Amino acid sequence: MPHPPALVASISGLREHLAARRTLGPVGFVPTMGALHEGHATLIRGARKGNATVVVSIFVNPLQFDRQEDLARYPRTLEADAALCETLGVDVVFAPTAAEMYPEPLMMGVTVGRLGDHLCGPSRPGHFAGVATVVLKLLQIVQPDRAYFGEKDAQQLAIIRRLVTDFNLPVTIVGMPTIREADGLAMSSRNRRLSPEGRRAALALVRALTATTRAIVEGVADAVAARAAGQREVREDDAVRLEYLEIVDPATLQPVDQVRGPVLVAGALWADGVRLIDNMPASPGPH
Ligand code: PAJ
Repeated sequence: MPHPPALVASISGLREHLAARRTLGPVGFVPTMGALHEGHATLIRGARKGNATVVVSIFVNPLQFDRQEDLARYPRTLEADAALCETLGVDVVFAPTAAEMYPEPLMMGVTVGRLGDHLCGPSRPGHFAGVATVVLKLLQIVQPDRAYFGEKDAQQLAIIRRLVTDFNLPVTIVGMPTIREADGLAMSSRNRRLSPEGRRAALALVRALTATTRAIVEGVADAVAARAAGQREVREDDAVRLEYLEIVDPATLQPVDQVRGPVLVAGALWADGVRLIDNMPASPGPH
């Protein structure tokens, strides 16, 4: 039977706990906002494989929410999360309060350059600066050898890789593939806010990404035409709206006009008042 993880709420408590464990070997870190699902579990299993100590943080970071309503409605399920962490053999759950993380308003912050110009950036002002800032803080607090992030949030992952490069942070970032429901919907903590109707409508996003990806593989190089193949999959009505469907360079996240090599196809969809994102890699087929 795995031991229950140590549940730590204070930064000083976490530092003390980890000081005693660092001699055992590498520390793996999985930052989350809780409401854990199989996507998070895959990151945790990945961390469990290669590290002596696994730390999971659960912190709904107010700095990265551009809409107060989204912050208020974000699911909080600490008890169930801690139980899942126990079954996965997590050593430490770090669940600070907002007052612990932000005892007073920050004066400093991370600004995100061009990587934040497209995809989710324009519709979520301040979001990625908030993500980069809290991840920088968390990495300084935990000081892990490796930190694990999902490709589901491809823009976030690219920004965090660049954060680590630009600030010479002594940590290895490990990206993990997107985990999906049986019908293809990418797992997300926000999925539990979907009504049955919204849940059905949400599948339009994965259909749109698949259709765009297929067009690219079949040799459609023109991005407008490839995107149109995806847009046709979304029947917009009062409950469903495609916020964006873009084809971008996987490293710079800048839109491409002509697909000549590997790209990232990414989209955001509103279904029943819930905003969902997803992405897929694509490469032109051998034509
Ligand atoms: P959260 O949305 O809880 O996600 C935590 C981690 O789980 C992220 O790295 C995310 O990409 C990954 N993840 C979520 N759904 C996934 C899926 N279906 N398959 C694979 N990985 C998945 O992302 C955040 O929290 C926050 O922005 C955070 C980085 C913790 C900073 O506050």
